[in-house]
Amino acid sequence: MCGIVGYIGKREACPILIDGLKRLEYRGYDSAGIAVLNCGGIDIRKSIGKLKALECAIEGCAPKGTVGIGHTRWATHGRPSDENAHPHSDCSGQITVVHNGIIENYAELKSRLIAEGHAFASETDTEVAAHLIEQYYDGDLAKAVRSAARELEGSFALVVIARDEPDHIVAARRHSPLVIGLGEGECFLASDVAAFLKHTRRVIYVDDDNIVVVSRGGVGIFDLAGNPIDKEVSLVDWDAAMAERGGYEHFMLKEIHEQPRALRETMRGRLSSELDRVDLPGMNLSDEDIRRINRIVMIACGTAYHASMVGKYAIEELCRIPVEIDVASELRYRNPIIDDQTLAIVISQSGETIDTIVGLREAKEKGAKTLAITNVVGSMAARESDGVLYTYAGPEIAVASTKAYTTQLMVVYLIALYLAQIRGTLDPSRAAQLRAGLWELPGQAELILNDYSEVKRAAERYYCFNGFLYMARGINLASALEGALKIKEIAYIHAEGYAAGEMKHGPIAMIDPTFATIAIAVKSKTYDKILSNIKEVKARSGEVIAIANSHDTVIEDYADRIIRVPETEEILSPVLVAIPLQLMAYYVALGRSPNVDQPRNLAKTVTVE
Ligand code: F6R
Repeated sequence: MCGIVGYIGKREACPILIDGLKRLEYRGYDSAGIAVLNCGGIDIRKSIGKLKALECAIEGCAPKGTVGIGHTRWATHGRPSDENAHPHSDCSGQITVVHNGIIENYAELKSRLIAEGHAFASETDTEVAAHLIEQYYDGDLAKAVRSAARELEGSFALVVIARDEPDHIVAARRHSPLVIGLGEGECFLASDVAAFLKHTRRVIYVDDDNIVVVSRGGVGIFDLAGNPIDKEVSLVDWDAAMAERGGYEHFMLKEIHEQPRALRETMRGRLSSELDRVDLPGMNLSDEDIRRINRIVMIACGTAYHASMVGKYAIEELCRIPVEIDVASELRYRNPIIDDQTLAIVISQSGETIDTIVGLREAKEKGAKTLAITNVVGSMAARESDGVLYTYAGPEIAVASTKAYTTQLMVVYLIALYLAQIRGTLDPSRAAQLRAGLWELPGQAELILNDYSEVKRAAERYYCFNGFLYMARGINLASALEGALKIKEIAYIHAEGYAAGEMKHGPIAMIDPTFATIAIAVKSKTYDKILSNIKEVKARSGEVIAIANSHDTVIEDYADRIIRVPETEEILSPVLVAIPLQLMAYYVALGRSPNVDQPRNLAKTVTVE
């Protein structure tokens, strides 16, 4: 969390930094700040609150200069305030830093630095880095950053400028994302390529324990001992327009609408156009490796965890391989059974979620083959796994994940079909049916998005309700949890996802006329049971909105409102069910919160434990 940027070139730095921070605001928005090198000094401006507050504060008096750094904060150490906003400086005003991550040994370092005479102006862990660099500074910023980095524990992407070294910016990274953008006579640094995509698509992904020196003439990358490292330049295939709102009121709505395209892109080249097979070379596993797998462990957080729930169901059903799923923050503190016959699959939109990355490392250490499903090329998950399958969702800017989720589902279905194809666990005609079903999904998603007036009508009625209960059975239990998560995070309404069969073991006590139940009642093995569960809610004066198939007339005798989705195989239905649930959360949130894209207390990429 937190977004950092840096610019050095011939243009005014300030507008470039502010624009870059705008594109990183999804990473945190408690405060923002910039520092620009000018006339032998460093001009620092910062404000509590969103970037808009900083923009207002500098209007008409923006700092001038062609070298600068910036930061948008998600508070960890120290409450949101002007003092705690980055950038932070050393005692002498020589060194100024922005930081993303957590310096875990900051307390110990801070005591030591105070004892050595340093005076601190904030409660942050970051300020320790500024003073530590000052401690080592003898006129060579890169050397001082290198020495400081060796002493820092935890996670950091640091971007640093020195008053007396106006011709370069120095950066360092460990466990927090950092990418360099290469322009003509200019260079950019950022947490995410979105910050500088409108200027360049030529990038270098910085690795852990790299020290980077960028200048107008180019880039030098070094290890912690100061040895130069050769790094590949990659070309990002997202363009700047993909990271714009494109006429939609919010990124979230735009991203919901992008799902048909994103699903098609994610399927392309993997499901053959004759629909006769699935190919996943990105898995980087031989047929022999695949036959050896006797267990799959899926590791993820939040929405991506819900995708892993669908993955478990699909892989066990189609491949008969036992699949264990773990919330990443839990996996790392137990002793999971993983060995060299295990395939560990991590799912992460950003590919940078620290808990997921630690889970991945743990699985690797225990000998598992590893596979990442991620949306971000060159992300940590992609680089550290044996294989990678990208979701081609394009940049996801809204904090609430939508298109990343449905494309993750697409990838887990492809994996299930691919493993089944190689292990011969699926009847060929059933496999053909499922491939055809997958192929239909983008078009069916389009049908939902062509007319969702019933979702809007339902949202108008329910936005002032006290709570929502999402109930489902089987594979759509993941949809229920995901629907509840979406409405919690953007509309701030209490919501629960529950296995419908469990209702009578507790949650049904919550039902009253101000509590809405969303029942996922698409065609399934357990359709009749869901109907009974709806009856039970209705008998207790609850209102029920059913997500049901287009031609289902039976449901009309049960639910108060019906939101229709096209019919597909039960196993594939979570993709279609997700869309009205996302829209429902969005339209309910519109009535309650001005911050749909940036809900309170959240950040898109969670790089702290
Ligand atoms: C919810 C949401 C989060 C993320 C979670 C994992 O809408 O976006 O729950 O799914 O923080 O993030 P990634 O997928 O980047 O690892």
